[in-house]
Amino acid sequence: MTTKTDDDHSDTTVLVLGGTGKTGRRLVPLLQDHGASVRAASRRGPVRFDWDRPNTWERALEGADAVYLVDAQDRPGQWDAEGCIRAFADLAVDQGVRRMVLLQARVTERVGGKSLIAGERAVQECGAEWTVLRPNWFFQNFDEGVFLDCLLAGELPLPAGEGREPFVDAEDVAAVAAAALLQDGHAGETYELSGPRALTFGEAITSIAHATNRDIRYSPVGHQDYVDELVCYDVAADYALFLAELVAQIRDNKNSAPTDTVRRVLGREPRDFEDYVKDAASRGVWDL
Ligand SMILES: NC(=O)c1ccc[n+]([C@@H]2O[C@H](COP(=O)([O-])OP(=O)(O)OC[C@H]3O[C@@H](n4cnc5c(N)ncnc54)[C@H](OP(=O)(O)O)[C@@H]3O)[C@@H](O)[C@H]2O)c1
Repeated sequence: MTTKTDDDHSDTTVLVLGGTGKTGRRLVPLLQDHGASVRAASRRGPVRFDWDRPNTWERALEGADAVYLVDAQDRPGQWDAEGCIRAFADLAVDQGVRRMVLLQARVTERVGGKSLIAGERAVQECGAEWTVLRPNWFFQNFDEGVFLDCLLAGELPLPAGEGREPFVDAEDVAAVAAAALLQDGHAGETYELSGPRALTFGEAITSIAHATNRDIRYSPVGHQDYVDELVCYDVAADYALFLAELVAQIRDNKNSAPTDTVRRVLGREPRDFEDYVKDAASRGVWDL
């Protein structure tokens, strides 16, 4: 007879939304390492899931006991985030989901008319055990996200002034998500997740420039100049405003205090930006 240990989650199936994204992609192997079955879902993922096509939701949820919920708020245009997440969370509970971990953001003020925490109430009221993750900006924006093209071009213009942000590793966010999905003791918690140090963009870019031996600069620009510049490059006006207001949160040091949540949940320190930069540089991500 085989006995199941506390760390054996072979009877758990987790639906991971944003399964191709920065945290979802890292969460999948962490869950599999603990024996869980994983359904990695997105518009282009192995399991099809599209927030804009509710007819994809039911099939994506098949057999799932738990869900890692990544929304689609960070995009141009209007999206009824709260309504959509509520409809999905209710369906998930109807289909047998008992635990949900919701990825939101540490930004709690509305930016560009959007709330980045619009899904919280819906998940808290759906009847499943819930945990909310509110991370700071991810390290990975510098090598796989929104800043990569500018870094390759040698200059990152942003309306962030000398504001500070305790950037966090998406790997640490994924590790906290894995703990909350598989272990007891995280229900009802809202975890604010940061890295160990708050950096200015100037400091972050200097660190990347040193590691790559390249001339890469951060250029502080004005709020409206930034919006105008993005619109010149055919970025939708509402999305340009959203980005500028999001960056203004950093300029104004709104969430600049590091938290101890990663250490409390994982029993180890969060990864430092310098370690991430060394590792990413050694993989050649910023090479021309
Ligand atoms: N990036 C950060 O620094 C940061 C910091 C704090 C919080 N967050 C939050 O994290 C979430 C993810 O943001 P991210 O920038 O890091 O993106 P990401 O997770 O790297 O990418 C977005 C993921 O969602 C999927 N997706 C996009 N639109 C979708 C749709 N309509 N239906 C279904 N799946 C969709 C994408 O896959 P497909 O393209 O295959 O659909 C991808 O897997 C957002 O809620 C954001 O507010 C991000």
